[in-house]
Amino acid sequence: MTEGAPELEQLLERVVAGGHVPKHIAIIMDGNGRWAGERGLPRFMGHREGMKSVRRAVTGCLEMDVQHVTLYAFSKENWSRPPDEIAALMRLLSEYVDRERKALAEKGVRVRVIGDRARLSPAALQAVESIEGATAGEDTLVLNLAISYGSRDEILSAARSLARRCVAGEIDPDDIDEADFASALYTTGSPDPDLLIRTSGEMRVSNFLLWQIAYSEIHVTECLWPDFSERDLYEAVLDYQRRERRFGRVTR
Ligand code: IPE
Ligand code: IPE
Ligand code: MG
Repeated sequence: MTEGAPELEQLLERVVAGGHVPKHIAIIMDGNGRWAGERGLPRFMGHREGMKSVRRAVTGCLEMDVQHVTLYAFSKENWSRPPDEIAALMRLLSEYVDRERKALAEKGVRVRVIGDRARLSPAALQAVESIEGATAGEDTLVLNLAISYGSRDEILSAARSLARRCVAGEIDPDDIDEADFASALYTTGSPDPDLLIRTSGEMRVSNFLLWQIAYSEIHVTECLWPDFSERDLYEAVLDYQRRERRFGRVTR
């Protein structure tokens, strides 16, 4: 057993004892570049190290019996980064898929990639399809991997698909409700996140799940993503469990 493991077990026990573990956790995995910069390393080394944090986050979610986790891996706006950084990120995606596909399926994780696939290179698209195919039958944990993702894009595409159904006479515009709209989003089938975590201390949502986080609790940590451990995840959930969710109501 590694040093600190009993302490981690105790933290997990506290989380489980706390009741109401979030059904859905969403994470903005930020700070890879700064992590690398602090060590005099190229940015892609931060992204590479960040892959280990992805593994830890998924393990932590499985341990807590979280049912859905959405990880922001690459935004639509990230396409404006230097081509060599984008290429490195896409290579890491293929590496992640090759390395994790089998283990994820064995653990019951279903991976679903959300975002604009039309912009992905053939190799990246192949990686996406291969991990989705290999894990399609699983249902212990849904892992939504947001790649080439932009929330405004997602909302627009939902609006377009509903508009097309109206034009085709399948639905009446006046009958469209929030559930219909949510079903037209990429995240259909996952409930709204209970908890949104952002690493690296930035206080913004950066075009992530704008519709879905209407009532999510937000936990921002200074920790840079490559340093994010299961302990940090459990601490975030303990913080969440201390919150009083009101949804606009008066509760006392
Ligand atoms: C997050 O880390 C990963 C991606 C956006 C792909 P960053 O690359 O944004 O790292 P910082 O924010 O520059 O430190
Ligand atoms: C958000 O991080 C996107 C991901 C974590 C994939 P960014 O680093 O791109 O966000 P900004 O530019 O700081 O808002
Ligand atoms: Mg960043």
